[in-house]
Amino acid sequence: MSGYEDTTARARELVEGADRIAVLTGAGISAESGVPTFRGGGKSLVWRGMPFEQLSSAAMVRNDLPLVWEWFDYRRKAVGKCVPNAGHLALAAAQISGNFHQFQLITQNIDGLHAAAGSSGVIELHGNIWRTRCTVCERLDDLTEGERPPKCPACGAPMRPHVVLFGEFLDAENVERAREAAASADVCLVVGTSGLVYPANELPHLTRASGGKVIEINPEETVLTNRADISIRAKSAAVLPLLFGQPNAE
Ligand code: OAD
Repeated sequence: MSGYEDTTARARELVEGADRIAVLTGAGISAESGVPTFRGGGKSLVWRGMPFEQLSSAAMVRNDLPLVWEWFDYRRKAVGKCVPNAGHLALAAAQISGNFHQFQLITQNIDGLHAAAGSSGVIELHGNIWRTRCTVCERLDDLTEGERPPKCPACGAPMRPHVVLFGEFLDAENVERAREAAASADVCLVVGTSGLVYPANELPHLTRASGGKVIEINPEETVLTNRADISIRAKSAAVLPLLFGQPNAE
């Protein structure tokens, strides 16, 4: 058995023996669908000469909301052409199989590809690129084409993307649900995330602190690697179907 086969077989054994699973995903799970990651391969995403942390920030919403809309329209254009890959589909199938008492998917992604794959009850920690929120009355709406920034149908104030930006708090209820799912999981799968953004990056630690195991899937080493029980250095679209013993797995 190669090192990869052995590691994957051990991870599969853990998954098969688990009753409660939490899955934390990041941009890497959507990479094979064609959605660019923020970091990885020693590079960081830059658009119009600006780092994404500056574009996706609370300060930019205050100072230049039209630019924020341009940036998110640009990202939506890329994401809109993408479809779920074998990794998203494997997670959806595992949830639908009913083999686990808990199967909680928690994502940092805003692309909506987990739901498109058929996953339900996904905790979207960082919001959703296809939704908008009023900057004044906080009304939520689906995104429509046309005027930028769109006007709130209730109060007429400008709308912004319904995405959590740097310098903003996450929805407290979502975070609490994610923490509970991680703390009660026998196995936490950490898929395609650099593990650099709080509070998502503390979820695997909650699983370990309560006696569960952590399996990381990422082609690169991350800050979470040395805290994982098993780290599979490979792409998620290849590994996830294998972990859940799905018929089409390579
Ligand atoms: P990053 O872009 O920071 O990390 C992506 C990770 O995916 C890297 O560790 C890659 O090695 C890995 N990766 C690349 N291709 C992969 C593949 N095919 N299979 C598995 N892994 C792969 O993305 P996140 O960790 O999601 O937040 O970033 C966290 C947050 O930072 C994002 O949600 C976003 C950003 O700021 C907001 O916008 C609020």
